[in-house]
Amino acid sequence: MGDERKRGKPLVLVASPFQGHMTPMLQLGSVLHSKGFSITMVHTKLNSPDPSNHPEFEFLPLFDNFLAIDASANFTTFLEALNDNCKMQLQDHLAQKIREGRDDEMITIIHDNIMYFAEEVANNLNLPSIVLRSSSASYVPAFLALPKLHAKGQLPVKDSMLQELVPELHPLRYKDLPFNRTSTEVATEMLALSERIRTPSAIIWNTMEYLEYSALTQLRQRYQVPIFAVGPLSKMVRCPSTSFLKEDTNCISWLDKQAPRSVIYVSLGSLATMDKTELAETAWGLANSNQPFLWVVRPGSVCGSVWIEFFPEGFTEEIRGRGLVLKWAPQKQVLAHSAVGGFWSHCGWNSTLESISEGIPMICRPVMGDQCVNSRYLSSVWRIGLELEHLERKVIESAIRRLLVDDEGKEMRQRAIHMKEKAKHSLCNGGSSFKFLNDLVEFLLIQTRL
Ligand code: UDX
Repeated sequence: MGDERKRGKPLVLVASPFQGHMTPMLQLGSVLHSKGFSITMVHTKLNSPDPSNHPEFEFLPLFDNFLAIDASANFTTFLEALNDNCKMQLQDHLAQKIREGRDDEMITIIHDNIMYFAEEVANNLNLPSIVLRSSSASYVPAFLALPKLHAKGQLPVKDSMLQELVPELHPLRYKDLPFNRTSTEVATEMLALSERIRTPSAIIWNTMEYLEYSALTQLRQRYQVPIFAVGPLSKMVRCPSTSFLKEDTNCISWLDKQAPRSVIYVSLGSLATMDKTELAETAWGLANSNQPFLWVVRPGSVCGSVWIEFFPEGFTEEIRGRGLVLKWAPQKQVLAHSAVGGFWSHCGWNSTLESISEGIPMICRPVMGDQCVNSRYLSSVWRIGLELEHLERKVIESAIRRLLVDDEGKEMRQRAIHMKEKAKHSLCNGGSSFKFLNDLVEFLLIQTRL
């Protein structure tokens, strides 16, 4: 394909202020820029990306009127306000751009699925719009099943039902359903929001066809638009840091001193929190496992604390030399390090893909939403993850040893390495993500032609 056809074709990417969504959007921008498109990255002032990391993009900040994400506030109310506050700014900017634009090219909008205002703007200006999904595909059928389960009186899930399989959602149990513990009102509100996106021209999914074939097939039937499975985006192109928090790279020299495959890396992503009791159980579980560990404790992630002031007495002395606690890690570099043998994760989709991409088996402790579905797939379908049933020190200690020391863990590692190879293959010429990316580029070229 001649580069001339692609050079400078305008794409407007609309990112959301959540780390787990911002990262794949920036990665997608880098991928599409490498294919010759010109990229405008639209983002909220809240949690802005660092423009100096991406001199190749144009950035458009939108004034959202928020100072921080309040985890305790109602999520749907927050999203409604965010979308309302951003809509006219983007519309005015693009209307102006169109008036000034060349007459042989049309802007295409690619937006995060929670930034649904971008589709309304696209419709108002007669522009095509495409959605980027940064969750797993397998999560969506479970999410869409919630109204039916609600109508049957099965939500919120009763304790007695948690371990039972949900009919028609194999392999999920009731405990794996997203929002199984939240009120029905929250689930209903979330669904109403997801229905705000009505007419995308296509969907881009950060996943691999081989990994989520069944869910992707169902979703193609449901949405009746092309779905391009182009993941893992983190491996498709070299992209500078996308972190909002400063990455503490000192941990790499610490990892250099550890034995191969001996370290358990612990991180619960950018949003999950824990209480003081969970912190103490985690701390002693890690210490008593006798394995070296690298533990990310985000500032503020322990309820009521600034950072690690609630660590149990004696813990810091106990772990000296064999455990490192930090505020934010260069996670992809950590997972690629030969000293890391396992990843204790909340099973956010980016973390899941990053672990698969490096062949690292996992300990799964989901907190909310798609993480519950991802955890089930990791432990029972792909069989590269151990479910952590209880956050108790003895259970944690045993899970770490099962993963890092026992034969069970060695077998999981073999399967994880096999999955890494398949992920690598999907990105190479002839692989599915490679093919979907080329199809996406062709699709965008048609969209951007008037
Ligand atoms: C959220 C949801 O929880 C997740 O389930 C959804 O699929 C996407 O949005 P988050 O909880 O932050 O994201 O988890 P995850 O998707 O794993 O994303 C976290 C990102 O932060 C990863 O890319 C990870 O590499 C990065 N990270 C995390 C760091 O770079 N350093 C850290 O110390 C911790």
